[in-house]
Parts: sequence; structure tokens; C-alpha cells
Amino acid sequence: DGVRPLAGLEVLVTAGPTQEPLDPVRYLTNHSTGKMGYAIAEAARDLGARVVLVSGPVALPAPEGVDLVRVTTAQEMFDAVRDAFPGADVTVMAAAVGDFRVAEVEPDKIKKHGRDAIELRLVANPDILAWAGAHRRANGSQTLCGFAMETRDLEANAAAKLAAKRCDMLVANDLREPGAGFGTDTNAVTVLTPGDAPDKPHAERWQLMGKREVAERLLLRLAAMRE
Ligand code: C5P
Repeated sequence: DGVRPLAGLEVLVTAGPTQEPLDPVRYLTNHSTGKMGYAIAEAARDLGARVVLVSGPVALPAPEGVDLVRVTTAQEMFDAVRDAFPGADVTVMAAAVGDFRVAEVEPDKIKKHGRDAIELRLVANPDILAWAGAHRRANGSQTLCGFAMETRDLEANAAAKLAAKRCDMLVANDLREPGAGFGTDTNAVTVLTPGDAPDKPHAERWQLMGKREVAERLLLRLAAMRE
């Protein structure tokens, strides 16, 4: 219906950073605050969807009326998404997932021991979005949207991700652009959808607007793609 255009749909959202432990005291992470993903989850709820929000550690309050699954590491986020994805009609992955984790987490605090340098061996984390793109229901009833934060060659990098991760939509934002990126309440996004050829997606540049408005517009667009 017009007021609740997502009624009857289950929306899965990932949000926030991941934390990859080095030892019991320290971790690797990034500057994600979760604001974009939480705005998507809240907008989806208000548009009538049932919402599962898989969130890394953030300082934001738990949204009411949303099934919040708290995770810490990329592997935990992957496990939570694997549980929820089969039931999701629309999935939006806005989390800033750590690409690498340490190969072996030290059981005890790493000590300086007078050393000038130490080496950390990092191994790749699973790409959760790529996994989802490869494991959709065969009947094509799942809509998949990814995000991409870039610092250069925004459209080319985003186009490559749209294809590689088999998304229906890829939302790209440039970290260097005023009002976009980590921690802001606004975003300036370029929305890519598949075009005539894999290297020629349809790209639409949206003006700077509040993250909540970006969220609503994205969700309405994703819902319209399902009709
Ligand atoms: O490759 P890149 O990290 O730029 O891709 C960003 C998109 O992929 C985002 O939607 C992000 O949530 C998702 N992603 C993921 N798992 C990863 C890395 C990225 O789901 N390990």
C-alpha cells in the first residue's frame, strides 16, 4: 500500500564497523559509525517492513521495532547474515566489514619486550556481500544492495563491485566529499544499477541529503525494482 510500501517484506541490513581482535586488549577496526545502516533499518521499519539489523559495535541506540543482532567480528557478521539471508526479501549491506583479521589471535597481551617492530600476519575475511550475491534464491525474489566507500575512481570501482558481488544496486560514496562518509548525518551518493553491459551500469548521482532521506529513497527504489 502507499503508506507502507514495504509491508509484507523482510529487510536485512548490515551496519557499523567490525572489530578484529589482535589479543585480549586490542583490535583492528575502521571509522564507521553505523549511521547510514541504522537509518536504513529505521526507514525500512517505518515503511512497513520486518527488519533484521546485523550490527557491529556502534554507539547508536538500538532502534525500536527492529530485530537487532549484535556482532563484533566479520566472521560473526557472516554467521548472522547466513542465518537471516534466506528469509530476506531485500538485503542492504551498509557495514564497513574488516577485509582482514589476524591469522592467530594472541591468547595473552602482546608485550613490547624492548622490540622496535613486530609483524602481524593478516588473512582475508569472507566477503559477506559476495556470498549473498552467490547464494540468492533461484527464483530471483531476493533484492540485494551493497555500498562502496571510495577515495578515488568512484564510479569505476563501484561498477566493478556491482558486477563482482552480483548486486541489484550499489551505492557509492566518496570519503573525500564534504558531507559524505563516516560520522556525518548527510550523504552524497551515486547509485549504480545494472545497465546494458557489465562495464556500463546505469549511474545516478544524488545531491547531498540527510542519511534518513537517502535511506528512504534507496528502499523505495529497491521496492520498485521488485514490481
Ligand atoms: O569490497 P568493498 O569492501 O568495498 O565492498 C563494500 C560492500 O561489500 C559493502 O556493501 C560491504 O558491506 C560489503 N562487504 C561485505 N563483506 C566484506 C567486505 C565488504 O559484506 N568482507
